Amino acid sequence: MKRIGIMTTGGDCSGLNTVIQRITRGATLRKWIVYGILDGTDGLCVTPPAVVKLNDLMLPIENARLAGSFLHNGHANALNFETAIERGKTAAFNKQLYKSLSELKLDALILVGGNGSISLAWANREIYRDLQLICIPKTIDMDIPLTDKTIGFDTAVQQLTSYCDQLMLTARSHHRWFVVQSMGRDCGNLALNAGVAVGASAILIPEIKFDVNALVEHIKNQPTDYGIIIVSEGISLRGHSGKPADMISRKLTAAGIMNRTAFPEHTQRAGDTTATDRILATRFADCALGAIENGETNVMTVLSDGDVHTVSLTEFVNAGEIVHDPKIPDLMTSNAYVSPDNPLLDVAYDMGIYIGEQK
Ligand code: F6P
Repeated sequence: MKRIGIMTTGGDCSGLNTVIQRITRGATLRKWIVYGILDGTDGLCVTPPAVVKLNDLMLPIENARLAGSFLHNGHANALNFETAIERGKTAAFNKQLYKSLSELKLDALILVGGNGSISLAWANREIYRDLQLICIPKTIDMDIPLTDKTIGFDTAVQQLTSYCDQLMLTARSHHRWFVVQSMGRDCGNLALNAGVAVGASAILIPEIKFDVNALVEHIKNQPTDYGIIIVSEGISLRGHSGKPADMISRKLTAAGIMNRTAFPEHTQRAGDTTATDRILATRFADCALGAIENGETNVMTVLSDGDVHTVSLTEFVNAGEIVHDPKIPDLMTSNAYVSPDNPLLDVAYDMGIYIGEQK
C-alpha cells in the first residue's frame, strides 16, 4: 500500500480541486493513502506537518469543479522557496521540508504548480530524494514549456472572454472603447486567446512590439465607434509608467477616442472549471498516478499533440527560456512565451485585429 501526498503551490486557478478529487479517487481505488498537504510548502514548515488524510467524501465530485484549492495555496509572507532565497534561509528551509516529508513517510509527492514551483522543485530536488516527485502543470498564464495546455488556462480564457462580452454591450450603448488589462505576467497567451474569442479590435502582448500611434490610427479606422482593446499586464510603453491599461487609455483619450479602462484581475483565476479544464485535470491526475505505479520520479505531466504523458524535469528546464527574477537574481524559472509562429497571431491579423508590428 502506497502513501502519497498532494500539494498545490503558487497562484490558484480553476481545476485544482478537480485534480485533488481525481487523484484521491484514483488512489483510493488502488487502496493507497492520500495526504493533502495544507497551504503548499507552509504545511511542511510546521511540526507535525499540516496535512489532511483525503478520502472520497471530503471533496465530493459536485464540488470538484469549484475554483480555488481545497488545500489552499499558502500565505504570501510565509517562508517559502522564494522568501527563503530573499532572506538567505534556503538551507534551513530545505532541511525543514526534507524532515517533514520524511516524517510523513511518503512514497510519492504530487506537486501541482506553475513554472516557478516546478523550476524550484527541480533546483531543490535533493529535498525529494527519498520519494517520487510528480509535477502537474497549472497556471492561467500558460507559460510552461513542453505542454500544449496547463490546468486553469481554459477557464481563465472563458472568464476573461465573458467579462469582455459584458463590457462590449455597455461600450456599444455609450459609443466608447474599453481597454481591458489581462493577467498573464510576461506571457501574452491569455490576452491573445481571449482577444480572439471576444473579437477584440486590438490585442497588445509583451512578446510583440507595438506602435501606439499605429494603434490609435487603427482604432480611428474601425467600422464601429466601440469595442474592446485587450492589453496584457506585461506590456510596457517607453517613457510611461503605471498600469499598462491606463497608459494606453491616456494615449487614446489624447487622440480624442472615448474610452474606459477595466481590470478583471483575480476573476480570471476563478469561475467554475470548464469541461476542457476538468478533462485535462482528470487526464493529468490519471497520468500522475500511472507515473507513480511505473516508478517514475522528477517528471511533469504534459499534453502534447493530444497525448498526455510525462517528461523529465531536465527536459522541462532545458526546453524553456531561463528567466532570472528581477527582485531575486538567484531565482530562475523555465518559461514559455507566445511563439512567433503561433497560428492565432495570423488569425488575429487576418481578422483585422491590431496585434502589434509583427508583419
Ligand atoms: O501567475 C498567475 C497570476 O495570476 C498572474 O497572471 C498575475 O500577475 C499574478 O499571478 C497575480 O498574483 P497575486 O495573486 O499575488 O496578485
